[in-house]
Amino acid sequence: MDCRLDGQVAIVTGASSGIGQAVARGLAQAGAAVVVNYNSHAEPADALVAEIAASGGEAIAFGADVSDEEAVGRLFAETVARFGAVDIVVANSGMQKDAPTAEMSLADWKRVLDVNLTGQFLCARAAIRQFAAQGDRGVSRAAGKILHMSSVHDVIPWAGHVNYAASKGGIAMLMRTLAQEVGPRRIRVNAISPGAIATNINREQTQGAPGEKLLELIPYKRIGAAVDIANAAVFLLSDMADYITGATLYVDGGMTLYPGFEDNG
Ligand code: BGC
Repeated sequence: MDCRLDGQVAIVTGASSGIGQAVARGLAQAGAAVVVNYNSHAEPADALVAEIAASGGEAIAFGADVSDEEAVGRLFAETVARFGAVDIVVANSGMQKDAPTAEMSLADWKRVLDVNLTGQFLCARAAIRQFAAQGDRGVSRAAGKILHMSSVHDVIPWAGHVNYAASKGGIAMLMRTLAQEVGPRRIRVNAISPGAIATNINREQTQGAPGEKLLELIPYKRIGAAVDIANAAVFLLSDMADYITGATLYVDGGMTLYPGFEDNG
């Protein structure tokens, strides 16, 4: 058995850049037909679809704001119309709107919670409904798989990012509760918590001198690449991980290992 996803249909939200883009590419390389969801940037999503098609895979791009219930409905309806089913959902869309708490607007608090947490709920709910409607397709040992993209900030508090950290903390219990609830239907639900992965979201933090400083927080002494997360996603979604549900896989070079104690504290 290996990490293949042939014959399976995957939706990846927020797949026009960063981690989502790498995950969509990875799932396509593993044999899945992929729906590349984006919110506002159609061009990179279309480019990824073209790249996947050029290497013999199947993909479409579909624009939808994951915090909008109707848009999520359209995303799933289009996927079923084009590919006949949904086997895998990667709820990846996420954003930061950082500010010290005293200066954070209610609008920025709400927007981050809406996209990062409510968006993941809406996608997971749509997935569970679709898995029930289509029944066992026989393409995987599980009857459906949901993967939530979280962050090391589901356990590491992050001053100046209270909306983001709260959303990621929320994902941890969303994921575990769902895993408990739908396990009897053979649906697996897991999370990946990336550490510092170089993408647009943290460009200023990961490059140059700030990037060097960041290594102090990473025992493995390298900033992650989006493909590190894609590799973990392919594994968790494949039958190699069929007995894994309700788990969070930290892909963080050890960032969650209290690096301040590296030299005896
Ligand atoms: C954030 C990044 C940050 C990383 C480690 C991620 O969840 O989106 O901006 O670099 O956590 O702090």
